[in-house]
Amino acid sequence: MPKIIPVAIFDCVVFGATGDLTLRKLLPALYYRFRDGQMPAQSRVIGAARSKLSDEDYRERAAQALRKHVGVGDLEPDVLASFLSQVHYVPIDATAADADWDQFTVVLDPARIRVFYLATSPDLYGATCLGLQAAGLVTEQSRVVLEKPIGHDLDSAHAIIEQVGRVFSEAQTFRIDHFLGKETVQNLLALRFANTIFERLWSSDVIDHVQITVAETVGLEGRGGYYDKSGALRDMLQNHMLQLLCLIAMEPPVSLDADRVRDEKLKVLRALKPLEPHDVAGLTVRGQYTQGAIAGKPVPGYLADLGADDPSGTESFVALKAEVRTWRWANVPFYLRTGKRLPKKVSEIVIQFRSLPFSIFPSEAAEWQPNSLIIRLQPEEGMRLGMMTKDPGPGGLRLSPTGLDIRFEKTFGMRFPDAYERLLMDTVRGNPTLFMRRDEVEAAWTWVEPILEAWASRPDQPRPYPAGSWGPTAAIALIERDGRTWHEDVE
Ligand code: BG6
Repeated sequence: MPKIIPVAIFDCVVFGATGDLTLRKLLPALYYRFRDGQMPAQSRVIGAARSKLSDEDYRERAAQALRKHVGVGDLEPDVLASFLSQVHYVPIDATAADADWDQFTVVLDPARIRVFYLATSPDLYGATCLGLQAAGLVTEQSRVVLEKPIGHDLDSAHAIIEQVGRVFSEAQTFRIDHFLGKETVQNLLALRFANTIFERLWSSDVIDHVQITVAETVGLEGRGGYYDKSGALRDMLQNHMLQLLCLIAMEPPVSLDADRVRDEKLKVLRALKPLEPHDVAGLTVRGQYTQGAIAGKPVPGYLADLGADDPSGTESFVALKAEVRTWRWANVPFYLRTGKRLPKKVSEIVIQFRSLPFSIFPSEAAEWQPNSLIIRLQPEEGMRLGMMTKDPGPGGLRLSPTGLDIRFEKTFGMRFPDAYERLLMDTVRGNPTLFMRRDEVEAAWTWVEPILEAWASRPDQPRPYPAGSWGPTAAIALIERDGRTWHEDVE
């Protein structure tokens, strides 16, 4: 078990305290950091939301959430009681003219680091920040954490960034993309820049193409109100998936300094070939699930999940082909796909190397598979290097695809912290490396916007796909047209 270094004592105010993200992710993350001694015992969590609740009411809700979302055996009664004693609640409507911001003055300790976590709709970010400022609650030691997506297009993102920027400096602003807190995502930096063998191979000389898949089995999970306005492109691709693409495609940064890493990611976003309106039809596929079955259980379609009678034009699946226009990546396509109600929950990156230029083996000696490096984000975080080896024993020289496998949990024999645990502690420490800088967010919207516009201008609805399938058949055609296939373990 690595040594845990406690962070400084802090107060963390969570706006949106009764929402799904807080109950399912943030409170469990804080609980684990408290249990492991990284969150000092005097630190406090102050939930803030519109509901009129007392501290006791909110502690009860928090306790229920922790019982549900903390692993069996990890919820220790004494630790839980001490943690809950540090949880408080402030009822407030941040958009109301008569909102009583002074309630925070009573609760917050002026000497501590303050984290204002905005787990609300982005439309509320501006009003919340202005309310905090007007009440004199923003100290030098304050930070603000913004959940994604920031806005719904470039203009709205820009407006939010400006509003928040009037109150918090860039150094105080932490735009969270929780994928960047996942262990394997951070391992990408280690894989590429702490090993000599891969960096030499990391280019179009050796790599044929890259695939990034983020598949989920869940549907709308009661988040239909948000999701139907967002869709897979804004919810997953504009942020999580483009960030993964950046970490794969970026040049080695000159140091691990936050800005040096983010400079390199930004260059990738700027090198993405813009999709012209006429490209969008051929290079993107959007889908929406209909009823089907997952793991043998019937599940309803998107509209039924949404509780809507009228059709919706929102995509729950997107696949696309992107190009990074640099020397390193010329002619190496990046195929991305993500969707809800797919057959399994799996997030992985496949680096597919080129086929043999020439084989000395008879063609019947093997079922050839070009080498691949599979980086598995979840479940079973790890990496697999796919290679050809000789079948053991006599009987002629026969070859089969096998692999070198690392499963991180097995290798290290420890629980892998949730992404939010690390990111929350990084916020307290003031380390922005794993957060998105303003220009990254804007560059990602700049690339995605022509797709949104082209889709909006085309009357065709997203293509239906049955829940439990790998999306519309057009997504398979998207890659097969180029003589390639989606990674078969996933299929
Ligand atoms: C969130 C999206 O950012 O990521 C959700 O809003 C999605 O729609 C979730 O389900 C997936 O995260 P994870 O960590 O479960 O892969």
